[in-house]
Amino acid sequence: MGAGASVPDIVTLDAALAHTGPLGIADARVTEAFGGKETLPGPRAMELLAAMQEESKHGRAAEVGTARAAVRAMLEQKEWDDGSLTPVFIRLAWHSSGTYDAATKTGGSNGAGMRFGPEAGDPENAGLDKARAFIEPLKAQFPNFSYSDLWILAAYVGLEVSGGPVIPFTAGRVDYDDETAATYPPVGRLPAAEKGIPAGCPFETCDAVGVMHGWEALAEYMRRDIFYRMGFDDREAVALLCGGHVYGRCHTDRSGYAGAWVAEMTQFSNEYAADMLEDTWTCVDHDDVWLDDIGAAELRPAPGKKQYVNRERPAGWAPKDGKALVCPFSFAKAEASLPTEPPASATRPGCPFAKAAADDAEPEKEKCASSAGGEPDNQMMLASDMVLAWDKGFRVHLEAYAEDEDALRTDFGKAFKKLTELGCPFAKEPARAPTP
Ligand code: HEM
Repeated sequence: MGAGASVPDIVTLDAALAHTGPLGIADARVTEAFGGKETLPGPRAMELLAAMQEESKHGRAAEVGTARAAVRAMLEQKEWDDGSLTPVFIRLAWHSSGTYDAATKTGGSNGAGMRFGPEAGDPENAGLDKARAFIEPLKAQFPNFSYSDLWILAAYVGLEVSGGPVIPFTAGRVDYDDETAATYPPVGRLPAAEKGIPAGCPFETCDAVGVMHGWEALAEYMRRDIFYRMGFDDREAVALLCGGHVYGRCHTDRSGYAGAWVAEMTQFSNEYAADMLEDTWTCVDHDDVWLDDIGAAELRPAPGKKQYVNRERPAGWAPKDGKALVCPFSFAKAEASLPTEPPASATRPGCPFAKAAADDAEPEKEKCASSAGGEPDNQMMLASDMVLAWDKGFRVHLEAYAEDEDALRTDFGKAFKKLTELGCPFAKEPARAPTP
């Protein structure tokens, strides 16, 4: 198992312990990583070994191993959403970190500021009180770890257990006493999924191929106000979204959006990236009650919200409440206005209007019937997700991750570690945001 040795097909726990002991890696960490299994596939064992070795350099490794085991034991919760706390822990870690501003060095995961009024009350953090409550028993069990450390550790363990990247954990975040801390972030830094998109129903606010008007403003907002502000580039931004939104779901009582991005929402994969490019996406709002009729009620967002779904609005369908008068859209009009070539920005985002790639000779109607042969899983995308397909700068990375799950795992792991260490006392100065 040493560096340079060929990777074995499987590695037993005993062999791993024999190798890791001399390297100073705590047995508790190794046993925890095996998660009750006697063997692991060789490549995964090597990934774990490298991460554990890195983790052991930062001290407290044995304690971290024990805390990891405690997190692992609580992740499976049958009554919670899709049976796992992993998604909500990832979101807690992301929202505690995503407030970081590289210019002022304020915000970030250090401090666990979400325990106090301003951040707790940020509408973008709705529902995360429940995630924080799940951590309370851990804090009681491991008082030497700060809340801010435990929030991040919980996400790392969730990622590792679900086949995601193995991220070496560094302890050392220090909790704020209250919201008067000098680096406490102002509310408003966490992203809104429809920023810059005009209000109104999908018929009014999408073009003939189903792309939202105003998406360019949303792309700029995501790029500059959100990801560049923290010090990420386009590739890291796409890696973070592709790795993050493969987990969990949206809830109408939290964000107002509804449904899961992928079919397997508790396991790491590149399904989000692949499905975004391969499936057809229709923009819907709360009035799209046909979703209920086809067994996709879970994809109908709250009033005032728009999102994309992997289902097609039945031909000729119009709302019964006279809304069609307010939204004078007709299928005939849309079809008549179909461009002969798809705009560079469109990725078949709303069959039956979307055009497949210009070099794709397959008839449009057949493309739209890609779900033939069985009902598809109910899946959704936010406007801010679709931007990754519409914006050329993001899309090149989306396409790469749709092809290569290992590359996504590696890049997402690095970007998530960087995200969760922004502004931390032990972190290196992050690279400054690119300013093209
Ligand atoms: C432009 C950036 C982003 C926007 C606009 C956004 C928006 C959202 C929204 C609206 C939800 C639904 C919340 C709910 O109703 O419960 C959500 C959930 C989630 N987000 Fe994001 N997000 C962004 C980036 C990220 C990133 C970078 C990650 C992680 C690296 C992430 C991880 C998650 C996870 C795991 C969930 C599911 C939570 C659960 O199942 O409870 N998001 N996001």
